[in-house]
Amino acid sequence: MNPVRFTFKLDDLVECIFFALRLISPAIARHHDQVAYISQRLCEKLGFDEEDTLWITLSAALHDIGAVSLEESISDLRFENEYIHDHSLVGAIFLEHFVPLNKIAPIIKHHHQYWQPIGGMAVPQEEVPACSHIIHLADRAALMIDELDEVLSQRHRIIDYVKTHRGTMFHPEYVDAFLEIAGPEYFWLDIVSGSTEGVGERLFKLRNVVLFEEEVLSWTKFLSRIVDFRSPLNAQHSSGVASSAAALARIARFSEQECQMILMAGYVHDLGKLAIPTAILEKSGPLDEYERAVIKGHSYYTYRILQHIKEFGPLVQWAAFHHERLDGKGYPFRIPESYLPLGAQIMAVADIFTALHEERTYRAAMGRKESLDIMYQMVKERAINGDLVQLLEQNYDEINHWRQVSQKQSMEEYAVMNPLFVRKIERGLGGR
Ligand SMILES: [Fe+2]
Ligand SMILES: [Fe+2]
Ligand SMILES: [Fe+2]
Repeated sequence: MNPVRFTFKLDDLVECIFFALRLISPAIARHHDQVAYISQRLCEKLGFDEEDTLWITLSAALHDIGAVSLEESISDLRFENEYIHDHSLVGAIFLEHFVPLNKIAPIIKHHHQYWQPIGGMAVPQEEVPACSHIIHLADRAALMIDELDEVLSQRHRIIDYVKTHRGTMFHPEYVDAFLEIAGPEYFWLDIVSGSTEGVGERLFKLRNVVLFEEEVLSWTKFLSRIVDFRSPLNAQHSSGVASSAAALARIARFSEQECQMILMAGYVHDLGKLAIPTAILEKSGPLDEYERAVIKGHSYYTYRILQHIKEFGPLVQWAAFHHERLDGKGYPFRIPESYLPLGAQIMAVADIFTALHEERTYRAAMGRKESLDIMYQMVKERAINGDLVQLLEQNYDEINHWRQVSQKQSMEEYAVMNPLFVRKIERGLGGR
């Protein structure tokens, strides 16, 4: 059989990441824009070529992406305390796995590293890329601005701070470049006026990089890790849904290409959960009305984020309609059976099947009989498709095998990050 060839544009996928960040954490997205702007100006002043400028600006535009998963706020990022490298490490691990952007992972990993580590500060075990120091300087300068106050009256304080730390905290050559660009008033006004919005993406828009299936799949996995690795209970969810949905689709005679798209849709089906605090996602007791309302937003956000990618076609609905029901009483679109694509019905079955086999704070993981009983009950209530549940029952061992293999792999990947997320809990984050 011929290999499936998708052709996607890298800038579309990158734009989608930015759109998601803007939707989910506007404060961090704004901070990213500001740091990207300062970094780009520094690159120009330092005479970097177009290629280096592009990658450094893109790194700056994504540098705190790990903070989104750790649920850190801008004020958590303001002080360089013992936890400050956690989000850099998380962001770097995520980006390592998205092949087209993995060259920025080491830059992001070290973006809080001092030029000269001082007393009590761990010396990095590996070489720090010089451009990490650009982002560090840009980041500190941006975070010193009090946006509730007029910016020009603050600039001398920030410039003095940067000058004072020349050759210790900051790379001396980069400080000199900063002092030059920070002279004119417009530099500061650009930062706070919103005119920096989208600076990282705009540079990238000029690119016309075509991606194939494996890279697009790595993009969906990259997003699923950002969503799932926020909590140990969810760490393997999307990969389980993706694999069981793809296995079910194969049995339901979807084409090879459609099965690949179902797999991708499974990885991103809960993308909108980024907008939901883990305190609600992991709540052990029953949810109150407010919490239920918040949860119901997640598949809507999945839809809004993915719909930007035209090439996805039906994949968007397959992913985002996984909480719709045959009786039209699902959420958030209340789509009745006649309009509900079979791919979305497969996703709904795979989502429930996977969730029932996972442990929750209030119950143990279920096995074959218990999970099928519940699913047949849902068929009776016209929530999910009975033919698909029957196919699942007939091929239970095979589908369950693929779910287990995939979830085991995710747990192994998550184990690397687990200590950082345990620290997150100790720090009391996650209750936005
Ligand atoms: Fe940071
Ligand atoms: Fe930052
Ligand atoms: Fe969901």
